[in-house]
Amino acid sequence: MSYKDGMLRDGALEDKVILVTGGGTGLGKSMAAYFLSLGAKVVISSRKNAVLEEAAKELSEATKGEVLPLACDIRDMDQVQNMLEEAVRHFGRVDIVVNNAAANFISPTERLSANAFHTILDIVLKGTANMTLAAGKYWIDGGMPGVFLNIVTTYAFTGSGYVVPSAAAKAGVLAMTRSLAVEWAKYKIRSNAIAPGPFPTEGAWTRLLPGDLAAKFDPANKVPLGRVGEHQELANLAAYLVSDFSAYMTGEIITIDGGEWLKGAGQFNGFDAVPKPLWDQMEASRGKK
Ligand code: COA
Repeated sequence: MSYKDGMLRDGALEDKVILVTGGGTGLGKSMAAYFLSLGAKVVISSRKNAVLEEAAKELSEATKGEVLPLACDIRDMDQVQNMLEEAVRHFGRVDIVVNNAAANFISPTERLSANAFHTILDIVLKGTANMTLAAGKYWIDGGMPGVFLNIVTTYAFTGSGYVVPSAAAKAGVLAMTRSLAVEWAKYKIRSNAIAPGPFPTEGAWTRLLPGDLAAKFDPANKVPLGRVGEHQELANLAAYLVSDFSAYMTGEIITIDGGEWLKGAGQFNGFDAVPKPLWDQMEASRGKK
């Protein structure tokens, strides 16, 4: 067994209906695939119908599970409401929402137009708020329990240059995760988040690290564990957090990044670069040798 294998037992998500925003590509699609293989019924949504249809076909063929593709721009509350209603009509209910859809521009902030800044805030923060409000009201009005899993990022804690709208929006999603974990616990609605470090996806990596940038700034070099993430290990964590096995967990933000963000934070972590002879010299100079 390895981290590339599925972790939960067969049927762990049997009969759960899970809506994954941004589920047609990247990490959203990988999570959807694993949820399906554990017995869930899955709604995948994004703006692009053709991409969704293709993904739904591929996912259902690979897992024999039931997948419903629903096009939706999460910036638009009416579209979000309609999507949720359509999902409930189709599957009878929705039990779990994974707020995964995101957008990002990597750019010096002073080069961004106000519209560019707002576009990222609208998708990441307002889109998540729209989906959260729609699903939360649906669960509360129906007297049903519910689960939110929000995909944030480690720079939601620290901030990060060159992705400022995304950092600001994800920090808002992080605050929403913890706030609603408490406020909506009385309705049996749980709210957790995952903060992934570098997990290669075609969309994010070609956009964020175009051309030879990926080679110049190989993200694996910044990870103490020396590698980037495998989609299955994120899917394992996501499946656990949406399953009943995590019934006592809420308001938690789990980092899965091989130690990447702490490496940047620890004052002396750069001392990895100190060669052995220099350590020997320092030891000798304090009189131990
Ligand atoms: N860098 C900086 N600004 C950019 C940009 C970029 N790469 N791409 C677009 N913009 C600006 C546009 O110029 C526009 O601003 P303006 O009106 O002042 O000129 C503004 O952002 C909105 O652009 P537009 O193309 O109209 O937005 P859209 O709503 O059609 O699509 C996205 C925006 C983010 C949804 C689209 O770029 C996209 O699909 N991105 C990929 C998804 C993604 O980023 N996934 C996340 C991976 S982490």
